[in-house]
Amino acid sequence: TLRWGVPRPRAGAAKRVIVAQAGAGSYKVAILGAAGGIGEPLSLLIKMSPLVSALHLYDTANVNGVAADLSHCNTQVEVAGFTGKDELVGSLDGADVVVIPAGAPRKPGMTPDDLFSVNAGIVKELVEAVADHAPGALIHIITYPVNSTVPIAAEVLKRKGAYDPRKLLGVTTLDVVRANAFIAAAKGLPLADVDVPVVGGHAGTTILPLLSKARPKAAFTDEEVEELTARVQNAGTEVVEAMAGAESATLSMAYAEARFLEASLRGLDGDADVYECAYVQSQVVPELPFFASRVKLGREGVEEAVGSELRGLSDYEARALEALKPQLKASIDKGIAYVQQQQ
Ligand code: NAD
Ligand code: LMR
Repeated sequence: TLRWGVPRPRAGAAKRVIVAQAGAGSYKVAILGAAGGIGEPLSLLIKMSPLVSALHLYDTANVNGVAADLSHCNTQVEVAGFTGKDELVGSLDGADVVVIPAGAPRKPGMTPDDLFSVNAGIVKELVEAVADHAPGALIHIITYPVNSTVPIAAEVLKRKGAYDPRKLLGVTTLDVVRANAFIAAAKGLPLADVDVPVVGGHAGTTILPLLSKARPKAAFTDEEVEELTARVQNAGTEVVEAMAGAESATLSMAYAEARFLEASLRGLDGDADVYECAYVQSQVVPELPFFASRVKLGREGVEEAVGSELRGLSDYEARALEALKPQLKASIDKGIAYVQQQQ
């Protein structure tokens, strides 16, 4: 669960505020696409993080108002805005983590792949800049279609001689957040206790929540497994349709990335036993070079793609895993081919 919040006055010292924990507050975070539906609430959540010292907001659209507004919140995070392509390089200066939600979201009737033609070029351009100006940073890719944009980022980094697979992470935390919320509600479990690993990718049936590995252990009928799995897989579409063309999930995504960022920063900080699910380069499923599974986060990023959650799957999960492989492989290959075809 997310540990940060609004600083509160200390008891007996009404005018003082607690703004940081010991050893914390030293990380610099850049958001590329910060003026968007995800970028704005995510910026607010990061402004409240005790682990962060500086937050750089970059967007091709005007982001200076967001930066000015946020800078008035009395937390220790220093906020700066960077608007327009000329300011991209400045926004990356000293970044420990670069979060990329830049790009178009889905509208009703669109598949994730429909966004490929618009977003592939945006991710390529931004990751090229990260390779040149923040080569040691962790990169969190939110931009759709994640199943392809992470392989695109990997190819771009390879071309630049700056690829460290431990530092490139596709953000699938929203799938975990949703699985936890839906299963807690369905089973009447305390929300804070529920933890469901979600593996595969981040689009439709490539998203595979492993109910057999849910904690605390719960019994599900076959119908419940099918319904809950489908609900998690279609949750993005559920929001897109409810938004009626305005946007896709933004608030829950900002929440999910704030959780994932906190885990990444705790890993960088040397905390032991930091685990999250993420879409990373791995050998967990040998025929899929990128796969979302539980990963251990450490001082250099992904220390290990664990994958032990894939042992002892139910028959339903094993079939679903086999069925998602060709689709996920095609999305990975499409991303790789996109970069390889460029000059
Ligand atoms: P949005 O349209 O509200 O915001 C996108 C922002 O990106 C805009 O401010 C835009 O100006 C900016 N932008 C566009 N091109 C840019 C560039 N070259 N450099 C910098 N900024 C640029 O969209 P949103 O709702 O914030 O969603 C952003 C992306 O995240 C979409 O692709 C969406 O599909 C995806 N998404 C992913 C997840 C996930 O779980 N990974 C969840 C929700 C949304
Ligand atoms: C989501 O899961 O809500 C996002 O990836 C956005 C989408 O288009 O589904």
